[in-house]
Amino acid sequence: MQRKGIILAGGSGTRLYPVTIAVSKQLLPIYDKPMIYYPISVLMLAGIKEIAIITTPHDQEQFQRLLGDGSQFGVTFDYIVQASPDGLAQAYLLAEKFLDGAPSAMVLGDNIFFGNGLAQMLANASAKSDQGTVYGYWVANPERYGVVDFDEAGKAKSIIEKPEKPASNYALTGLYFLPGDAPERAAKVQASPRGELEITTLLEMYLHDGLLQVDLMGRGYAWLDTGTHSSLLEASEFVRTLEDRQAVQIGCLEEIGYNNGWISSEALLEAAEKMGKSNYGNYINQIAQSARTRR
Ligand code: DAU
Repeated sequence: MQRKGIILAGGSGTRLYPVTIAVSKQLLPIYDKPMIYYPISVLMLAGIKEIAIITTPHDQEQFQRLLGDGSQFGVTFDYIVQASPDGLAQAYLLAEKFLDGAPSAMVLGDNIFFGNGLAQMLANASAKSDQGTVYGYWVANPERYGVVDFDEAGKAKSIIEKPEKPASNYALTGLYFLPGDAPERAAKVQASPRGELEITTLLEMYLHDGLLQVDLMGRGYAWLDTGTHSSLLEASEFVRTLEDRQAVQIGCLEEIGYNNGWISSEALLEAAEKMGKSNYGNYINQIAQSARTRR
């Protein structure tokens, strides 16, 4: 069964108030494109074409206005509402019908990944449909994240949400490859003391059954934080620095769709036109032109 994707893009965003009172966090710009483009690009790089986007009830319309049905990128978007932010594991309950038994890759709508070899790393995880894969990333402030503890052989022992005394510096990133039974297992997750269905509780179930691999995302990869105003600005600077220096776009969804063979060069031209005089539009136009001369 083809793996399906979930982007979890709800939540209250209170840590970024007043910026996120009227606009969803995941629609804020990271340099030259909306934040949600970056996690969508991760799923597309993993070869995933069917994607559900989970939002708050009041933000859904803006996401639909931005992203439509996905055909312009060669994918399909289904929109699902999360009535209140009751925890990350709830995404699997809300997406149960959409997944219809398929293995999934879920990425948090505010997580940005970048690095050479990302597509290969994702393909490796995607190929394993009977077990889950998640990623540990060395950070200076693990207490703000889910934290992975490893035994001496380097095997994951436990995953604990925001521990006061972290057992390691390995934070769990917001990218989860899980088998087809994730909704079934998520239904067994009990709410934590803070009242949320924690993703870490769900992951612990897989870990306990020997069905979860925790891979390390090494220092060659960037996993950017978007949790504070400062880190948002830093993420924008990071994207700007790379894009300006290398004259390539990070998270250009039309480009990935084209490279995956999901849209034609004509569709690229059409998309470029819709983007008006923006750099993003010019970039897509260039790809379309070079595709034509290559023919
Ligand atoms: O970013 C990685 C971290 O994400 C992991 O290390 C943690 O294990 C995981 O719990 C999560 O921690 P956060 O503190 O970042 O979770 P937060 O509550 O901020 O939610 C993450 C994103 O998901 C955020 O953009 C809002 C959205 N969200 C959150 C909840 C609780 C939803 O869409 N629905 C929800 O119910």
